[in-house]
Amino acid sequence: MQVSEIAGDITKDIYTDYFARCSGSESLMLYIEDRERGRMMTEVFRLLLEEDLQTQFGYLCFETKTHVAYGVEPEMYDNLFAAVANTVKQALGPMWSAEIDKAWKNRISALGQAIRSASAVHA
Ligand code: HEM
Repeated sequence: MQVSEIAGDITKDIYTDYFARCSGSESLMLYIEDRERGRMMTEVFRLLLEEDLQTQFGYLCFETKTHVAYGVEPEMYDNLFAAVANTVKQALGPMWSAEIDKAWKNRISALGQAIRSASAVHA
């Protein structure tokens, strides 16, 4: 089931969770409007759903390079993905199962690894 069917658009909740857990991230995004924040989250969802992350290597090289220029620190990615997972978890309530938890952990870990590999290209 789609989380949006239960909780609507959770983008704002994700950013609230994210800023609370990741010091420095809120000030980086202070003047970034909702539309751009939404666009960024659309890309994050797309990556989380991507079956073969290797196909995204070029895109991740590009985005991690631009994001270094924005002042984004490496650990901010892990915090962002943890915020997405936790917000979905809160939205699903009792529907969040051990199986779903494991699938999210695997997914986040794979995406974090892909981002570290892409970042290493321009380190
Ligand atoms: C996989 C993770 C991420 C993806 C796919 C992503 C994607 C995007 C996209 C598509 C944009 C629109 C402009 C552009 O293409 O650069 C954007 C903007 C931005 N992102 Fe991310 N982002 C991610 C993680 C992060 C993290 C962890 C931060 C930390 C705070 C961050 C901070 C920003 C900022 C500050 C902007 C606005 C830059 C500006 O317009 O001045 N992003 N992001």
